[in-house]
Amino acid sequence: MPSPFDSASSTPAIPITFATKSTWETIAAALPAAMRQFALANGFAGKPGVCLTLPAADGAIAQVLFGIEDEATKSRDLFRPGALPGLLPAGTYRFANAPHDARLAALAFALGCYRFNRYRKADAPDVRLVPPSGIDAADIARMADAAMLARDLVNTPSNDMGPAELERAARELAERYGASFSCIVGDELTRQNFPLIHAVGMASTRPPRLIDFSWGDPAHPKVTLVGKGVCFDTGGLDLKPSSGMLIMKKDMGGAANVLALAQMVMDAKLKVRLRVLIPAVENAVAGNAFRPLDIFPSRKGITVEIGNTDAEGRLILADALAFADEEKPDLLIDMGTLTGAARVALGPDLPPFYTNDERLAADVARFAREENDPLWRMPLWPPYDGWLDSKTATITNAPSGGFAGSIVCALFLQRFVEHARQWLHLDIYAWTPTAKPARPEGGECQGARALYKLLGERYA
Ligand code: BES
Ligand code: MN
Ligand code: ZN
Repeated sequence: MPSPFDSASSTPAIPITFATKSTWETIAAALPAAMRQFALANGFAGKPGVCLTLPAADGAIAQVLFGIEDEATKSRDLFRPGALPGLLPAGTYRFANAPHDARLAALAFALGCYRFNRYRKADAPDVRLVPPSGIDAADIARMADAAMLARDLVNTPSNDMGPAELERAARELAERYGASFSCIVGDELTRQNFPLIHAVGMASTRPPRLIDFSWGDPAHPKVTLVGKGVCFDTGGLDLKPSSGMLIMKKDMGGAANVLALAQMVMDAKLKVRLRVLIPAVENAVAGNAFRPLDIFPSRKGITVEIGNTDAEGRLILADALAFADEEKPDLLIDMGTLTGAARVALGPDLPPFYTNDERLAADVARFAREENDPLWRMPLWPPYDGWLDSKTATITNAPSGGFAGSIVCALFLQRFVEHARQWLHLDIYAWTPTAKPARPEGGECQGARALYKLLGERYA
């Protein structure tokens, strides 16, 4: 998708004036009489989300009015301008006055230009924005591009986005930025001691793998990203009902978001030694599928009893996290679409994050707010850790009871992290169920922008 930003437009850009219910009167008073009359006749009153194009005397579009929330509104959507690309006719536009936050408004505009057009050509008009002055347009374009990468990867259906295709996407990204790439495929996972990745992925005709790339100066602080790459989650033998299985092409959303974050980090040349690890599998049903109450060793040595084959994400992340942990990274981050419980707790748009590091937690929350990339801290609640105990193995992947599912998953993963200086875990949804401004229905980039800014502050 080409950048929606147009800094060198040959034709003058059409101004967009943002109006709220309380600023509209003043804005209306300053309009030429015919335009004011046109707006009033159309009932424009600065209602949030309403867009009106005002004609010049010759019938061309002279300017655009767009309603946004009042400054004091409780549920202000700073991404409201992200609806504009879907409302405006083709053309190049500019902001005539400041929306609440010009930087986030420009980002929203860019994010709102996204269309998933791999299988059906988009009928969207070509709408561009001259970026407002005083903002870092390149940085905004970098964030929008990364979000679109994540969305494309998630939206691509599983028949065209299996473990091999996910590997190819990661390889292309790695090669574009000169990273060194490797991948462990199929039975080689057993030989190189990744028993859990192999166990989850072996029932698919599309072999499981561990994608691994590294970038940057080895002398810089080590930041390692681990992403859940379940290319389709049937639930395994503990099969999901069809309603629960429907959108499980998105179960590689953690991998997609890790790749988006890696792209931003490499593109901005942050001073880190970046490593990306993606266990990529398909949780399929076949005669050789792993079963409930099977017991497997793990890379870390802990034996794991399978309480439920549908709790597969934490299994593949466990081996990848243990591997990442071996080189004692400065910061270890994992992202995955791990639990339905996270959605029950916080809904689709507010992923929980977990860390025991208070400063890291404060930083994540701050950048989540600043970037309008919502994240909410949940606790690694020690009293629940004992729930993981198994009578026949060291731990179970799915304790019975089902309480606090997202916390229990985080505690399970914590067992595999020992040496990393700081660890951060995100239980994301990676999906927008109903379209909102700047967030079209379907695959979504969640948390990656906030984390990019956090890494930018730490390792500029
Ligand atoms: N991929 C799912 C989690 C999921 C489901 C995310 C629906 C978003 C929407 C994960 O692999 C899973 O199935 N988790 C189980 C765990 C349970 C069996 C302990 C869940 O959440 O039900
Ligand atoms: Mn599952
Ligand atoms: Zn899953």
